[in-house]
Amino acid sequence: MRRALVIGFMLVVAAAAAVLVSRRAEPVKPLVDGVTDDPATASILARSCQDCHSDRTRRPWYGHIPPASWLLNSDIQAARSHVDLSQWSKYSADDKRQILTSIAANVRNNVMPPGRYIFMHPDARLSAEEVARIYSWTRSERRRLRAQAETGGNAR
Ligand code: HEC
Repeated sequence: MRRALVIGFMLVVAAAAAVLVSRRAEPVKPLVDGVTDDPATASILARSCQDCHSDRTRRPWYGHIPPASWLLNSDIQAARSHVDLSQWSKYSADDKRQILTSIAANVRNNVMPPGRYIFMHPDARLSAEEVARIYSWTRSERRRLRAQAETGGNAR
């Protein structure tokens, strides 16, 4: 039993090390990979979302040390499986529209950025104007994508 625990623990450590190494090897891409041309919106996304929803994670010092690094890794992995701003240009127009709707809902309901993140990064908190800006950006971007689909144009 104890042996199984030790082996289990070692596997977890090895897996975490592999994740850290693979993460470090990722190339640095621009965050706003076609997400938005609006610099004000881009800077809000960069400030409040990119740590979790992109491959541009800036880690606090403790974020490199287990077990905090494991928690961050699983959070980032979950976040990126839903929305990865670094991969924006690879989403289909339909996916983009769905994600934009979800961004609008999550931001307006103060679900994103998560409270636990704001607690550690108070500057990530969105003001009412910033929420309004994100919301109107999601609307106009969705409208643009829909128009593009109707005219048969290529979605970005
Ligand atoms: C601390 C990391 C973190 C930050 C910062 C963060 N998110 Fe998230 N986000 C997550 C996680 C984790 C999930 C996955 C859902 C879950 O497990 O709660 C998620 C899910 C989402 C989803 C998908 C929700 C769904 O129901 O499919 C959207 C949209 C989203 N986030 C938008 C944003 C936006 C916009 C920002 C910036 C304003 C932001 N997030 C900031 C961690 C984060």
